[in-house]
Amino acid sequence: MNNDRTPLVAANWKMNGDRAMARQLVNALVECVNGGCSAELVVFPPAILVDSVVAAAASCVGVGLQNVSQHSSGAFTGELSVGMAAEAGCRWSLVGHSERRALYGETDLQVAAKFVALQAGGLNPVLCVGETLEQREAGHTEQVVAAQLAAVVQLAGVSAVAAAVIAYEPVWAIGTGVTASPDQAQAVHKFIRQQLGEQGQTTRILYGGSVNASNAKALFSQPDIDGGLVGGASLDAQEFINVVNAAER
Ligand code: PGA
Repeated sequence: MNNDRTPLVAANWKMNGDRAMARQLVNALVECVNGGCSAELVVFPPAILVDSVVAAAASCVGVGLQNVSQHSSGAFTGELSVGMAAEAGCRWSLVGHSERRALYGETDLQVAAKFVALQAGGLNPVLCVGETLEQREAGHTEQVVAAQLAAVVQLAGVSAVAAAVIAYEPVWAIGTGVTASPDQAQAVHKFIRQQLGEQGQTTRILYGGSVNASNAKALFSQPDIDGGLVGGASLDAQEFINVVNAAER
């Protein structure tokens, strides 16, 4: 059984930044780790910046891709494989981010295949799940999240999912400035933990969706929230470090 609940804060830069920004942000994170920060830190830069982020991150900040192919090689123009990510120094990858699902039509099945490919290649997946506003308002949040999880559990097995990290990111809270309230987030985190717990497993579950330095403490102090996946607020070094500090236990 996986019982690791070390706080983890991850930065999803999306399609933002350049080499200079990457160096500056990562140097600030390395300083934060060297200064005794106890949370685990992972950065998801645009793939083309991975080399410079890995070089600056030393071994104290994890680096990952925002997306990978489920295929290992071949005629897949524009795609990157798990093996390429590993060779470049990545230990992590996001999978199933709502922007990939909504803008690029990624299905639950593709997400599950990518998840399996990541673990087979020795990378840690951060599996993103979450409902849209319409689904929440229709009272379908648990059903949607359960189905997104079940697709991966079915292909990978429950212990594989429990060995990964899950990020609950309500779609309506991503990049909107509207955060789920601590109670709303806690309720879904508890539900996800129960889903895995029913099968004898638990894991780290991060909250994502407009996390910033002002709301992080209230979210991260919920019993089933183990840290955050942070977009906009991860692009400013001081703001992100304040979020990281809110995750310390
Ligand atoms: P946000 O993005 O913090 O800008 O809402 C979070 C995410 O998409 O992972």
